[in-house]
Amino acid sequence: MTETAAVPADLLLDERDKFEVDDRVAYFNTAQISPLLRSVRAAAEAALDRRAAAHTLTSRDWFADVDQLRAAYATLLGTRAECIALTPASSYGLATVAANITVPHGSRVVVLKDEFPSNYYTWERFARQHDAELVVVSREPGQTWTDAVLAQIDERASVVAVPNVHWTNGSLVDLVRVADAAHGVHARLVIDASQSLGVMSLDLDRLRPDALVAVGYKWLLGPYSLGPLYIDSSLHGGEPLEQNWISRAGSDDFSGLAAYRTEYRPGAERYDVGERTNYQLTPMALAAIRQLNAWRPERIAPSLRRRTDAIAAGLERLGLSVEPADARGPHIIGVSFPGDALPRVAESLQRAGVSLSVRSTSLRIAPHLHTTDADVQRLLEAVAAAL
Ligand SMILES: Cc1ncc(COP(=O)(O)O)c(C=O)c1O
Repeated sequence: MTETAAVPADLLLDERDKFEVDDRVAYFNTAQISPLLRSVRAAAEAALDRRAAAHTLTSRDWFADVDQLRAAYATLLGTRAECIALTPASSYGLATVAANITVPHGSRVVVLKDEFPSNYYTWERFARQHDAELVVVSREPGQTWTDAVLAQIDERASVVAVPNVHWTNGSLVDLVRVADAAHGVHARLVIDASQSLGVMSLDLDRLRPDALVAVGYKWLLGPYSLGPLYIDSSLHGGEPLEQNWISRAGSDDFSGLAAYRTEYRPGAERYDVGERTNYQLTPMALAAIRQLNAWRPERIAPSLRRRTDAIAAGLERLGLSVEPADARGPHIIGVSFPGDALPRVAESLQRAGVSLSVRSTSLRIAPHLHTTDADVQRLLEAVAAAL
């Protein structure tokens, strides 16, 4: 789409007021941490007021928000609440999955090159523990991540751990094709959706992953330290990482807590982190997911695609190359620079009040619905000034 193309009626073009953003800054850094929604800040303040009135908390309050949050995550993912656990970090979710699967000696665990460290370290350790081989997929120039991953999936693969887009630059992995290949050789499929959930729709019935993790503070627009872990029902009988009281059956009967039970609460709830009630963070996450479910990823993605396409066109006019639209996600653009220009460009952007990140060899540009035409112009001018 060009900047002058007609705008489809369903795009979300006027949402800036819903975000806490500083007009002096052009913020393109949601891939690092999102700006806060006003509704999320309001939820945090209300949560603090409630917490300050401890005497008003009832036993039901230990469960009510958590139940709603689990249901809201499930709606966003198009799945059932019983498949969702609440986790403080992607590393926690991945550790839970790694502790509950086993693979044959000599089989292969497949991850992407330059994968986010929490994902890499989990599978590197898992491979060592199971005497398996860690296969780190790199791509040839011009090759898509999808083709590079597919080339490594054969009957030796036992785990395929992939994101929907690469965290450094938004390059796309076609999860449908990767899922089909993984299932075709009976490999476990584990998705880190930290850089895509909240923008890109996932069809879990089609993908049938064993598990999916996502952090809450990027594209889920929520607080730090709370996000969902989706676990397929075939793994609902596993062992959580810790033995906390609230994950056990009957934990809502406070008078009977010392009548210890061997059974857990149903579904993926057994994998919830201890103190998951999290009186401060849960209402914040709930407000964020409610907003995302009201916007809906099917509308968020094309709205952000329109922005990233305009940024891509502007960068190309400056003689820079970015991934073609069909090889990148709708919400993140990575751009690399010839020679030693990257530090100079990063400094120019900082001076111009443009907030974004450098990851590996890419400048990572990640707008959201608060982004304006003026923000994009400021970004492009600051890049041009340093070339
Ligand atoms: C792809 C991806 N996964 C996970 C994380 C965060 O990991 P953790 O929750 O383990 O801190 C990030 C943060 O940048 C990320 O980009």
